[in-house]
Formats: sequence, structure tokens, C-alpha cells
Amino acid sequence: MKDRSTTRARLRLALAPLLATCAAAATMVAMAPSASAGTTLGASAAEKGRYFGAAIAAGRMSDSQYMNILNAEFNSVTAENEMKWASTEPQQNVFSYGSADRIVNHALSRGMSVRGHTLLWHAQQPGWAQGMSGSALRNAAINHVTKVATYYRGKIHSWDVVNEAFADGGSGGRRDSNLQRTGNDWIEAAFRAARAADPGAKLCYNDYNTDGINAKSTGIYNMVRDFKSRGVPIDCVGFQSHLGTTFPGDYQANLQRFADLGVDVQITELDVMKGSNQANVFASVTRACLAVSRCTGITVWGIRDSDSWRGSDDALLWDRSGNKKQAYHSTLEALNAGGGTPPPTTTPPPPTTTPPPSGGGCTASVTLNSWSGGFVANVKVTAGSAAINGWTVRVALPGGTAVTGTWSAQASGASGTVNFRNVDYNGQVGAGASTEFGFQGTGVGPSAAPTCTVG
Ligand code: G3I
Repeated sequence: MKDRSTTRARLRLALAPLLATCAAAATMVAMAPSASAGTTLGASAAEKGRYFGAAIAAGRMSDSQYMNILNAEFNSVTAENEMKWASTEPQQNVFSYGSADRIVNHALSRGMSVRGHTLLWHAQQPGWAQGMSGSALRNAAINHVTKVATYYRGKIHSWDVVNEAFADGGSGGRRDSNLQRTGNDWIEAAFRAARAADPGAKLCYNDYNTDGINAKSTGIYNMVRDFKSRGVPIDCVGFQSHLGTTFPGDYQANLQRFADLGVDVQITELDVMKGSNQANVFASVTRACLAVSRCTGITVWGIRDSDSWRGSDDALLWDRSGNKKQAYHSTLEALNAGGGTPPPTTTPPPPTTTPPPSGGGCTASVTLNSWSGGFVANVKVTAGSAAINGWTVRVALPGGTAVTGTWSAQASGASGTVNFRNVDYNGQVGAGASTEFGFQGTGVGPSAAPTCTVG
């Protein structure tokens, strides 16, 4: 858990060099007004193909003023604490969803989407996990991801699969934590487990102090680029945006460079230090999101100033009496004025007019990430001297091993000898080219070389 004053000091420090470029950014993101007439944050965002959400606390759901604002203004919800590891798995393998369910069920019954926050984080771990390390912790973490994402399968728009895994400061590297000490591949193992458990949810990496182009955001950028190049299932990056009194001049450019990697971007925990620039910063963030076509939504981290983790910063859109602040009005105006750059819906790959020739064979090789009791296998399928149109990889699993999830292929079974067949989008492989799929399982990973056949 982060100490609030330290966090704020870090925020100010991180934002200081960006002051000089603020004026330029304000010009850069200004957009021509359109005829939008949204009268609430959610309705106006929806007109732009986006959501506008709030983090809420189950403990405040009996407060009618709070709930009235939520129901009237927002079309997305995040549980502020109730889906964190300590809340959902207080004892190992004993799950507790009561508070989280109250939030999720309320949201879904009103047609709001839900951001899941968060599957793995170094903070707010249950005591039993804090005391674990090595393969026992890795197993427990992957089990947690699998169980929680499975429980909520079909109900979550986007999961923060991993939260705040990068270090502050100039290293651009990972933060030290018990999870990090299980091996650098813990993040990709978590994303693979989440994909297997809920293939319909967008899978996000989420962090703070990443709201401009700096060493930390660049470290994350490099990770996302690497994940995309290796087929690790990541769909989105969350920018928490706990902001100070100034708007980072390269905020929009930072969102755009991530979007250009082929992931959605989301503003996930927006709140802004009080002061004369507060309304302007909220509006600037809103304009930046609208200007990036893959920025799919904004979430504010609470409703009224009195609901905020930032205490006396008065960092939200409603005051302590539940009145709309200037920051609310400027945010709504920015939403209404935004030009239409709706996020694209996923488009299928273009059809090929000339099917590639069959024949020439294929080969497959497996890379294993193993720990005691479990493994993740990545399989590379390579076409021979001719292009192929469909492949099947046969993998012999040791006795007692079971496949618990597969991505980018269809498995014929879960144990013994398993055939993994291509899915729609990765059957065609050019001569000498490769594609990848993967699976995870319990027990020991395969040791015998897999075989690949065409078709
Ligand atoms: O629920 C207990 C209550 O029973 C107890 O009496 C009380 C005593 O302190 O504590 C209550 O738990 C608190 C919990 O919030 C619920 O109010 C925790 O102490 C407190 O540490 C916890 O703070 C949360 C913080 O994450 C934990 O790090 C904040 O509400 C929450 O806004 C904040 O959210 C994080 C995001 O998850 C990740 N990004 C940063 C953001 C702000 O720190």
C-alpha cells in the first residue's frame, strides 16, 4: 500500500518538468465543438463510443446521495477495494465475493459496465500470501487469477490483471515485490491465466506516474511492445492519472504511443489536486482521451471529495455536500465538445484472395515456464518451405498433468496426448514464417518434442 503524502510528493516531482509544455498541450488537444447534447458524463461519453466511470465502495452503497449521483451520471463502475486479493481470497483458496458482488450486480442491473480492479498487486495482498515466496506464491497467484476471473467470466469489461508492477524513478524497471521475486515472467503468466479464464474480458496493465513520457511509462511501453510481439495476451493499458495541479504536456502523445502498439488505453483512476487549475486539468484529460481513438473510457477515483483516498486534496467532481463542482462542468463540456473519434470495434483480418498452397510441412517447438505444480507452455509453429493453411500440433503430456487453459488454438482434450488445432486467424502461415499459441496446466509440462502436421 502506498503512503498518501509520499505518493503526492512523487506526483509533484514527476510532473514538475512538464509545466513548461502545458500551454502547448492545451492548444494541441483543443477540438472543434460538435452538436452533442449529452447531459450526464455517462451519456455524453456514450455518444462518443466511450464509457465514463467511477470507483465506488460497497460500504457507501446505503448513502442515497452517493447512489443517486452514481446512477444518474456514470455508465461504468470500478470497485475501489472490493476485488483486490485481500478482499476476494482472505484465506488461501477460500473466496469471498460478497462486497464485490454487490457492486458488480448493481452495475450490471443498471446497464453499467464493470472494470475489474485488480487481480495481482504487491499491495493489499492477504496476509497468507504476503508470507509466501517462490513457486508456492507463483502457484497461489495464478490460482487466484484463474479462480477470480473465472467467477466473474462474462461480467467484466476490462480487468486490471496486474497493477503497479513498475518502479518509480529513472530505472524504467520492475518494482521489487514478492511477486517479482517469483520470476520476471510473472506478469505474462498472469495475463495468460486471465485470458484462459475469461476470454471475453479486455486484459489491462495498470499503473500510476505514467501520465507522460518518462522512464516508468517507457519501461511499461517496452513491456507491452514485447508482449505484443510474442503473442502474450494484453489488450489495454490503464493510466491511473492521480494528477497534481498541472496537466502533463505530453499526456496525449503518451496515450497515442501505447495505442499505436495495438492496445486500447483507458484513464483508470482520475483525480486532480484542488486549485484554480483543477477544472482545466480534468477537461484536458477528457479532451486527450477523446482525441485518441483507442482511448475507450475514463474512470474517476470516487464521486464526492469526501469519498476520495486523497483526503483534503478535494480531488473529485462533486463537493463534500454532493454539489457539482466547476471540474464537473468543464469535464462535461469537454465531453460534449469532443469530435467523434469512436474507438474502433475489432476488425477481422482482411480476407486473402489467393489461398496459399498447402504442403511443405511444419514444425513446432515448446518453451516452458514451470514452477512446482504448474506451467505455462508457449508453442511456436513454423511452416516449412511452403505456406500452410491449417495446422495441428500433437503434445504428449506426462501422467497427472492437466491442461487448464489454451489460447490461440483449440485443444482436443485436457490430458494424455492432446491435439492443438489452429483457430480462425492463425491457420495460414507463410513459407518459413511462424505463429504461436499457448496453454497452461497443472502438474509437469511436456518434455517430449511436439509434432506438427498440416491441416
Ligand atoms: O475496510 C477497513 C476498515 O474495516 C478499517 O476499519 C479501516 C482502518 O484503517 O481500514 C479499512 O480499509 C481501508 C480500505 O482502503 C477501505 O477503506 C484501508 O485501511 C486503506 O488502506 C484502503 O485504502 C485504499 C488503497 O487503495 C490501498 O492501497 C483506498 O481506499 C483506495 O482508494 C486505494 O486505491 C488505489 C488503487 O487500488 C491503485 N492505485 C492507487 C489508488 C490510490 O492509492
